[in-house]
Amino acid sequence: MKTMLKLVLGLLALPALAAEPQSVWLADLDLKLMSSGWGHAVANRSVTTQELAIVGQKFERGVGTHAESVLNIQLDGAAVEFTAQVGVDDHAGKGKGSVDFQILCDNREVWQSWPMKCGDAAKPVRVPLAGVKSLVLLAGDGGDGVNSDHADWAEAKITFTGAKPEAVAMPREEARILTPPAPAAPRINGPRVYGVRPGHPFLYRIPCTGERPIKFSAQHLPAGVSLNESTGILSGDLTDRSDRTYQVVLRAENAHGKCERNFKVVIGDTLALTPPMGWNHWYTHYNRITDELMRQAADVMVSSGMADAGYQYVNIDDCWMNAKGLSKYQTDEKRVGPERDASGNIVPNAYFPNMKALTDYIHGKGLKAGTYTSPGASTCAGFGGALGHEAQDAKQFADWGFDFLKYDWCSYGRVAGKQPDLAAMQKPYRLMGDLLKQQNRDIVFNLCQYGMGDVWKWGAEVGGHCWRTAGDLGFELNRVFEVALKNAEHREWSKPGAWNDPDYIQIGMIGTQTRRGTFELAHPCPLTPSEQYAFMSLWCMSAAPLFYSGDMGQLDPFTLNVLCNPEVLEVDQDELGQCGRVVPVGKKTFIMIKDMADGSKAIGLFNRGVVPARVKAVWSELGLQGKQRVRDLWRQQDLGVFEQGFEAGVPRRGGVLIRVWPAKP
Ligand code: GLA
Repeated sequence: MKTMLKLVLGLLALPALAAEPQSVWLADLDLKLMSSGWGHAVANRSVTTQELAIVGQKFERGVGTHAESVLNIQLDGAAVEFTAQVGVDDHAGKGKGSVDFQILCDNREVWQSWPMKCGDAAKPVRVPLAGVKSLVLLAGDGGDGVNSDHADWAEAKITFTGAKPEAVAMPREEARILTPPAPAAPRINGPRVYGVRPGHPFLYRIPCTGERPIKFSAQHLPAGVSLNESTGILSGDLTDRSDRTYQVVLRAENAHGKCERNFKVVIGDTLALTPPMGWNHWYTHYNRITDELMRQAADVMVSSGMADAGYQYVNIDDCWMNAKGLSKYQTDEKRVGPERDASGNIVPNAYFPNMKALTDYIHGKGLKAGTYTSPGASTCAGFGGALGHEAQDAKQFADWGFDFLKYDWCSYGRVAGKQPDLAAMQKPYRLMGDLLKQQNRDIVFNLCQYGMGDVWKWGAEVGGHCWRTAGDLGFELNRVFEVALKNAEHREWSKPGAWNDPDYIQIGMIGTQTRRGTFELAHPCPLTPSEQYAFMSLWCMSAAPLFYSGDMGQLDPFTLNVLCNPEVLEVDQDELGQCGRVVPVGKKTFIMIKDMADGSKAIGLFNRGVVPARVKAVWSELGLQGKQRVRDLWRQQDLGVFEQGFEAGVPRRGGVLIRVWPAKP
């Protein structure tokens, strides 16, 4: 008993056990996740798989890589230090190469080597890591291109006490909601201008946030249009048959306050006076789309608040028709059947029992309905297309009550031949554009032919309102920045009624199409939260059509926040219809600046690099004079008056969106 007591007392007297530091060699982490500008990162060898050597000094341990190279390492805050000897490997050739090694801890640069050449002695590195969660090792090109930039992280190791450091594809990022919730008092959102053709049906649900019930009212409405005071839905048949502009005033009031907004209704030939906004089923439901899922999308567009932010169209994409038989893309017997009936009318497949009932359902919510077909004999996924039945189909779409048509080139290539000239490219669109204009309702016409023949130059002339400027973004989601920059090259053709379309918004839960062509069920999109904010910012700065294409059944608060910030959407929906101008700043950073109708400018500061960067908008370089009042649009926060410019830290592959007004002197 005595010995037992002694033992217990002895144990209590021991100091608390501190974890013994351990270490891991950089070479033992998963180097597949380390990028390398040439070849690939090699464990314990140079990038050319020779012995690691810096000015004759040989190293048994280390990693050989090539600029530009990045490795992200996830720590748990309990690491001790990172140590290494860095330099350009001798095998690059004396005097050659130039590499700048850089180390970031939790997005802050903590060490840098400045450019080193082959022949420069190895530089020792010792970086303390207490509290650090994200460690980034970078080998830059020294500012002169990547030729011979053989970069060695010799003897590199991490000492740690907690969890073992882990190489990761990208630093983990928290999905932070930047925007404050909408106030309880009403706020009318959406466009300030709206085009409709004379004598046509009118339908517009006033987008308005704020606690319900809200009482709506309106002044100076066009004849034939009436307002439902509790839903805020404007509807009716325009009795005015001449071109005219109505300066409508919309009002909304609830227990917390009231608001008012001017809303110009332009009766004339031009539709889509601001970029169309809505949802399209493609990137979620692919060949699984049903009437039920379309109704769900309409329900959620209202219940989630998307309609209150301005989303309006609920659009079907491919696969609503019948296919002739089963195929790689089409494995469902219920979608196989006659493409047309005895009178040549297109037949929806068994999942769409009644198209008119579907559009009635969508319209009942004050929303609009869109459909899809191809000018070819079949659609991209192999369903019945419009070839030879264009007039009949255009009338059918109008009779069913559709308000939007996406016309997808696809198999029309077989009609037009391998190298169609401009007239041949335009022919099917001109034909359908004319037919749609003859219908008794407004149908927004979306050309989908992936940018062929510089469609931005003639899309409007053949009756189109928006056109894809490139192939499917779905395959290239990691190229969001590059696709937006390419799209912005066609900025001079962007104007009210004529929009360049870089494809749909794919954030939240989306399904991917694999390279084998199969369609996966929805899963979280691979973009980081910063990339998702940047995605939306880029599209709005470009005055792009805004079609969310994720799963409406699985919307989460973060995704809704990115989709529904009215101040950000206002940039997209601005009356001038300008696509922002791109101003390059650094190698991986750029600014977009867009004129707004009220004389202010929207400015996006973007970083498409894989490490955080500071980006500065200098007023004089952007053509702005004098001091500017700056507002952060994602945070909906006034930042104050800035004399000469505005500088912000921009996350890796992220963006910061501001709006500036000349400050009163
Ligand atoms: C093409 C289009 C997509 C989608 C599919 C449907 O790839 O570019 O947007 O409509 O066809 O099959």
